[in-house]
Amino acid sequence: MAEAARKHLLIVDDEPVILQILRAVFEDEPYELSLAATGREAAAILRDSHVDVLLSDKNLPDVNGIELLRLAKERDALTEVIIITGYPTLETALTAIEYDVFDYVLKPLNNVFDIRRKVRQALAKQDIALENRRLIRELQDKNAALEAALEETRSLQAELIQSEKLAGIGTLAAGIAHEVSSPLFGVMGLAEAIADEGDLALVQGYARDIVEYCRQIRDIVMELSSYSRPAAQEYLTTVDLARVVLDALKLVERSAPCGGVRFEADLPQGLYLNARTNEMQQVFVNLIKNAVEAVNEHRGGGVVRVAAAQNDSHTWVTVADDGPGIPDDRLRMLFDPFYTTKPPGKGTGLGLNIVWRIVTKYRGVITVQSRLNEGAVFEVRFPVER
Ligand SMILES: Nc1ncnc2c1ncn2[C@@H]1O[C@H](COP(=O)(O)OP(=O)(O)OP(=O)(O)O)[C@@H](O)[C@H]1O
Ligand SMILES: [Mg+2]
Repeated sequence: MAEAARKHLLIVDDEPVILQILRAVFEDEPYELSLAATGREAAAILRDSHVDVLLSDKNLPDVNGIELLRLAKERDALTEVIIITGYPTLETALTAIEYDVFDYVLKPLNNVFDIRRKVRQALAKQDIALENRRLIRELQDKNAALEAALEETRSLQAELIQSEKLAGIGTLAAGIAHEVSSPLFGVMGLAEAIADEGDLALVQGYARDIVEYCRQIRDIVMELSSYSRPAAQEYLTTVDLARVVLDALKLVERSAPCGGVRFEADLPQGLYLNARTNEMQQVFVNLIKNAVEAVNEHRGGGVVRVAAAQNDSHTWVTVADDGPGIPDDRLRMLFDPFYTTKPPGKGTGLGLNIVWRIVTKYRGVITVQSRLNEGAVFEVRFPVER
C-alpha cells in the first residue's frame, strides 16, 4: 500500500523566538513543516500548496491572522486552524465560531506539549471529516449509478411491455382477419348486387347496409390500432371503465377459442378512471385472456364473469372464472415476470407482471382469491380521485 502523504503544518509568527520554539516542538513529529515570519509569506504558501493545519499568530504586522485563516478555509474547508493569541477576548471567541477555528494557544508558550496535543487533535478531527467526505462522494457515485440503472430498467420495461403487446397482436391478427372477412364479403356481395340493380329504393337499402358493414370493419381496426400504440404516446384521459372492459372482452373473444366460454358482465355505466385507455385495455385483456385459458384448459370451457363497482374511496373491477383455481403456494409467484405454467410457445409469463406494473403505476392494488377446482377471482382496485 502507498504510504499516506505526510500532513502539512504551516506555522506563522512574526516573533523569531516563537517560530524557533515551535520548530523545535514539531521537528520530531512526522509532519511536513513550513514556517513563515510574515503574513504575506504564509499567504503564498497557502496559495501554492495544500495545508492541513495552520498554526498562526493572530496579530501579524502585514496581513491580519484572520485574513490568513479565511484564505486557508477558502482553499480547503477541511484545513484546521489553531490561533496563537496574547489574550482571549470576546472578539476572538466570535471569530472562532464564525470561522470554525479548532483551538487557541495562549502566549507566552508555557506548555509546548499542549500545543503538540492540539495539533494532533486537529488532525484527528480532520481525518474524520476527510473520511466523511470520501463516504459522501462514494454515496453520491453509487446514487448516480443506481439512478442510471433505474432509468435503464424503466426503458427496458417499456420496451418489454411493448414487445409483449406486439407478440400478442400476432395471435390477435388471425382472429381479426376472420372477423373482418365476414363484413367484407357482405360489402362485396352488396356492391355486385348494386351493379345489376335497377330499383333505386333497393340500391339505397344496399348502400345503407354497406355503410353498416364498413362501420364494423372500422371499429375492429380501431380497437387493434389503439391496443398496439405505445402507451407513452397516449395522454391520460378519463377512461370509461365499462367501455374499456367490454372492448377487452371483444379483443379476447376474437383472439382465443371461446366456443365453450360463457361471458357474464356486470358493468354499470358512469364509472371512470383517469388513466391511459391503452394501458387499461392491456390490464383487462390479460386478465380475461388468463380466465378464458384457465377454463378452457380445465374443462374445455366455463364461465368468465367481469364486474365493476365503486364506493366513496375506490373503483374496482373483478374478473372471475370457474377454472382450476390456483394452489396457495403459487399465489405469491403469479406476478413475477416469466412465471408461467403454460407450455412453451403458449405463455410468456409476462401477462400478470405487466398488469401488476400498470395497476401499481396508477396507485392501484391487484389481489387474487382462489379455491382449488372452483376458480379464481382477480380484482384490480383504484383510489377514487377527487
Ligand atoms: N385465472 C387464472 N386461473 C388459474 N391460473 C391462472 C389464472 N390467471 C393466471 N394464472 C396462472 O398464472 C400464471 C401466470 O400468468 P401470466 O398471465 O403472467 O402468464 P401466462 O398467462 O402464463 O403467459 P402470457 O400471459 O404471457 O400469455 C399462468 O401461467 C397461470 O398458471
Ligand atoms: Mg396470461
